[in-house]
Amino acid sequence: MRFTDKVAIVTGASRGMGRAMALGLAREGAQVVVVDINPTGGEEVVQEIEKGGGEAIFVRADVSNRADVEKMVQEALDRFGKIDILVNNAGIHDGTYFTAESEEMWQRLFRVNVMGTVLPSQVVVPEMMKRKKGKIVNISSKAAVVGEPYHAAYSASKGAILALTRCLAIELAPYQITVNAVCPGPTYTDMLLGATDAAQREELTASAPLGRLGQPEDIAAAVLYLASEESDWCTGQSLSVDGGMSILK
Ligand SMILES: NC(=O)c1ccc[n+]([C@@H]2O[C@H](COP(=O)([O-])OP(=O)(O)OC[C@H]3O[C@@H](n4cnc5c(N)ncnc54)[C@H](O)[C@@H]3O)[C@@H](O)[C@H]2O)c1
Repeated sequence: MRFTDKVAIVTGASRGMGRAMALGLAREGAQVVVVDINPTGGEEVVQEIEKGGGEAIFVRADVSNRADVEKMVQEALDRFGKIDILVNNAGIHDGTYFTAESEEMWQRLFRVNVMGTVLPSQVVVPEMMKRKKGKIVNISSKAAVVGEPYHAAYSASKGAILALTRCLAIELAPYQITVNAVCPGPTYTDMLLGATDAAQREELTASAPLGRLGQPEDIAAAVLYLASEESDWCTGQSLSVDGGMSILK
């Protein structure tokens, strides 16, 4: 029960990794604010948490829209009175040959993946500063760590998240706010199913040193560590959770 009396916001928590993070945090005692643009899955996650005896609310918000993000933080404070943990998980994927990636695609990926991490952090951090305490966990990607073809805009947006993580870690350290990132490798979610076909997933599995792709719970376990007091002396770091795929030559 690492999160008794803790309040956590998880963005993009209607499905996939975010859902596993929200359920994992709630299972260990956190009161969870489930945030997504998709209310259907989000309400189901709240019901699942409540069925398990936990407490959660769903807030429909687009993390790339400041007004939505302000509403998200206000609703979290109105219901639970404070915010201990922010997990910036919401993200989108797209990609093709570099010369064919449109300016619209670059802007969309940066809007959601980068500004969707910046805006929630900017609105939540003043609350954490007041209490001199907080945990921010950003979800980057293996694509930010190793060279991968055919999704330059996505990779660059996830690289920006790592730079932001290091910058904020130093800037917010005087307030005892830690900022870390997780870099997942290919993980079984709707995003992966949308970005790959069965043959590509087989190829990825064959190349994975640990012989399998990730499950949302693999990523959630790392996030829970970085959101817990166990990681109090760890800041500005990125933890690769990818079955060893990023250390291949
Ligand atoms: N699945 C993978 O293989 C993989 C690998 C590396 C990194 N990631 C990253 O992990 C994170 C979670 O990915 P996933 O695989 O669970 O994806 P997913 O597509 O299954 O889930 C993402 C969730 O984010 C929500 N979302 C999207 N845009 C949003 C917005 N503007 N505002 C609020 N919510 C929004 C979606 O509605 C969805 O519920 C993403 O940041 C992704 O880039 C995924």
